[in-house]
Order: sequence, then structure tokens, then C-alpha cells
Amino acid sequence: MSLLVITLAAGKGSRMRSSLPKPAHRVAGVPMLQWVVDAASDLDPQVISVVHGHKGEDLIALLQDRGLAWVKQHEQLGTGHAVKIALQELNNIDVQRVLVLLGDMPLIRSESIQELLNDLGSDDVGLLSTIAKDPTGMGRVVRTNAGLVSQIVEHKDATDEQKKIAEINTGVISFPAKKLYDWISRLGNNNKAGEYYLTDIISMAVAEGVKVIAKQIPSTEAYGINSRADLALAEREMQKRLTDSLLEHGVSIYDPSRCDIRGSLSCGVGVSIDINCVFEGEVTLANGVSIEPNCIIRNSHIGANTEIKANSVIENSTIGVSCSVGPFARIRPKTILSDGAKVGNFVETKNTQIGQQSKVNHLSYIGDAIVGDKTNIGAGTITCNYDGINKHQTKIGSGSFIGSGCQLVAPVEVGDGAVVGAGTTLLNSAPKNKLTINVKQMLCKDSVAVTRLQEKKEKVT
Ligand code: UD1
Ligand code: MG
Repeated sequence: MSLLVITLAAGKGSRMRSSLPKPAHRVAGVPMLQWVVDAASDLDPQVISVVHGHKGEDLIALLQDRGLAWVKQHEQLGTGHAVKIALQELNNIDVQRVLVLLGDMPLIRSESIQELLNDLGSDDVGLLSTIAKDPTGMGRVVRTNAGLVSQIVEHKDATDEQKKIAEINTGVISFPAKKLYDWISRLGNNNKAGEYYLTDIISMAVAEGVKVIAKQIPSTEAYGINSRADLALAEREMQKRLTDSLLEHGVSIYDPSRCDIRGSLSCGVGVSIDINCVFEGEVTLANGVSIEPNCIIRNSHIGANTEIKANSVIENSTIGVSCSVGPFARIRPKTILSDGAKVGNFVETKNTQIGQQSKVNHLSYIGDAIVGDKTNIGAGTITCNYDGINKHQTKIGSGSFIGSGCQLVAPVEVGDGAVVGAGTTLLNSAPKNKLTINVKQMLCKDSVAVTRLQEKKEKVT
């Protein structure tokens, strides 16, 4: 069956009170419209068209390169009008079926739509409905005594009796294409909103003896986002969906309500994730990785059996096998930790490679550096990579030892097996297998400062 999907996304979404167009708001890190378009793509349609209006350029920028047919609706005259101009723009494309989706329902699943499409005969109209706790504002699905769909009546136009109906139109409706071209040309706007309602087609179809099927889906799949509160609800629901799927695959998530995935998280076997962790972009956690509480991991790969300890932030980096990171580590972009490396508390790294089994355990900044294997970098060591204009590289060999509190002023090199004494400011390269140390004079003498301190102590006691 050839299918055209029309996604409606031209509305202003004024209740969001936002400078962004509504469908650009993100759910689980992904623009709402992208969720809908992804669901549409799963149906393998011939064309996916998106009707845009308010700040449409922003939507196009978000979803370019996806082969979408963008149609501009200059004035938002209603859902019927939006579908009409999309069909016109596509020159009444020759397909068997048209499916209309709304750009503000990110939770819709392609499986539900496919089930509806499977149920439809070639001339039938089908829609997804749901039972709403509070149907206010929605189109009600009106049925005959025999339970057949007879019309959709919009809230503004419904009688008090019809307003009591809890079954609502989700907005997902599929039409036989040839008939739709005729029905859409006959739509009027003689209603309370003065809009061309797509939903008026239901009673037209019924009048012509066309079968209309309304298939119910859970309300959690049918959320239409109109406000920030709706967005927050949808976010929770989507997070539940994502964490449920990881739990099913054997990932241990200590409290799914305190785990946030904003992008895609793929996990190997035996992964455990403690509370309050956020995963952004593309993150992979290999077998046996454990993540302690309060970590943020963005666009990174964590190798097998590595421990990410509490309160660490990792972005755009690659962490090897059996590494240990944190607690309180900040791993900035382009960090590569080789297998068995350790980066401890209050250590910041950036654009740096740390070799196998090397350690930077405490209070350091290592930026623009290449560190060999089995090297130890002492507490409080800093690579001075920036001269105020340019960044420079520090190279530290394998099996070397940098004492505590050193400043390595780049560009500078430390050879294999070198020892750099504590507190050294390294201005020139430290040769391999040698001790390099700044000789500083230590002074001890009587001073008025000592006398004053003693006087102060005496006053207190
Ligand atoms: C619509 C349905 C209603 C359904 C509800 C589900 C109609 C007439 N009503 O009502 O039956 O219960 O969705 O949420 O279809 N849009 C355009 N151009 C327009 C008007 C709307 O692109 O001229 C887009 C909006 O951006 C939005 C979608 O269509 O994504 C729905 O429009 P909205 O105004 O929210 O319709 P509802 O009143 O919610
Ligand atoms: Mg709406």
C-alpha cells in the first residue's frame, strides 16, 4: 500500500509561552516533531510531508537531511486547511492512503498506527482514539447506539451531552486518498472557531456509507502537548518507556524515576546505574560498567568493567576498559583514557590521552596532553597549556613520575622513566630516566610575624 504521511506542525503553540515553535521542544532530548517523523518513517511511506508555519525555519533547520516535503501554511486556518494545502503542494500525489499525524504528539508509537492501518479496508477511514480523564478542549468521538463512529465533534461545538463523552480523537486519522481529495475540497468553516476542521470529514464519510474505524490506544501514547506542564508529563512518560526497555534488557537501574536519557543510551550486559544520572546524546556503556550517583555522561563510550564514581561529568570522550573515573572528575571533550587508567577526584582533563594504567588521582588539570603508560601524575599538577593566545601540547612518557604540585609549561616534554620533583615548574623538557627538580631555597628565621601570632594566641587563651 502506498502511503503519504502529512504531519501538522504549523500552529503557534502560544500556551507554551516560548520563543521556540512548539514541535521543536524536546522530549528525552529529541525534538517532538522528530519523534513523530521517526514513527512515520517506520511505516515506510512514499512521502512524509510536514506543514509548518510559525517559525517553520527553526523546524526545517532541526530536521534537514531527512527528505521531508515541507509545506508552508501562511495562515493557520485549521487542520482541514493544513491538509488541503499539503495535498495541493504535492499535486495530489498518486497514493492509496493518506495518514495525518500531529507534530505535538511525541509519544505516538508506529506499532499502534500500523495496527490501525492493518485493520482498514481499502476504502475505510480509520482514526486512533483514547479515553481521556479530562477531555476538555478535545474532539469527541460520537458513536451510534450500535457503537459505530458517526462523527467527531470539536469541544467548542459540542452539546452538553456530547461534552460528557470521554473518548477523544487523538489526531491520528487515515483516509483513502482519492476520496480525501474530494472531501477536503468540500470542507467549510461554519463552526464556533471559524476553522476548517479536518474532523468534519468523519461525518461526510459516514454519510457516504464509508466505514469509519476508531481504534483506542492508551492515553499515555496520545498526549497532545499544549503547555509546559504537558511537556513535563510527556518527558516522564518517555523516560519510563526508555528505562523500561533497558530494564528488560537486564540493565540494573536503581530508581528508574531518577534516571534521564536525553538521546540514545545503549548498554552491554551487567551494567548498573545508580540514581540521578543523566545521559545525553549517544552514550554506550560496555559490559559490566557501573555508574555511581549524580553522573552526567554526554556523547561518550565507556569501556567494559569501568567504574564511573559519583558526581563525575564526562563529555565527548572515550574511556577504556577497567578504568576508574571520579568521584568528582570532569572529563572534557576529546579525552581518551586507555585501559586501566585512573582519573580521581577533582581532576579535569581535556583533549588528552592517558596511557594504560596511568594515574592522575587528585586535584589536577591535564589539557592538550599525551601521557604514556604506567605513569603517575601527582596531586595538584597542572599542564599550563595556554599562553594567552595559543594552546600548546604537553607530552609525558611512559613509566614516569610527576611529583605533586607541578606546573608543566607547554610546549614541554617529559621523557620515559623521568621523575619530576614535587613543586617543579617545568619550563624545559625533562630528560628520560633523570630526576628534574627546581632548586628553591628554603629559609628559616626569626620574624615579627611569629611574635604577633604568639601574642594573638595568648589573648585568646
Ligand atoms: C485537534 C483535533 C481534535 C483532537 C485534538 C487532539 C481538529 C479540528 N481537531 O484539536 O479533534 O482531539 O487535535 O490533540 O483537527 N495545525 C496546523 N495548521 C492549522 C491548525 C493546526 O498545522 O491551521 C496543527 C497544529 O500545529 C497542531 C495540530 O495541527 O500540531 C492540531 O492543532 P490544534 O490547534 O492543537 O487542534 P486541537 O484544537 O488540539
Ligand atoms: Mg492541540
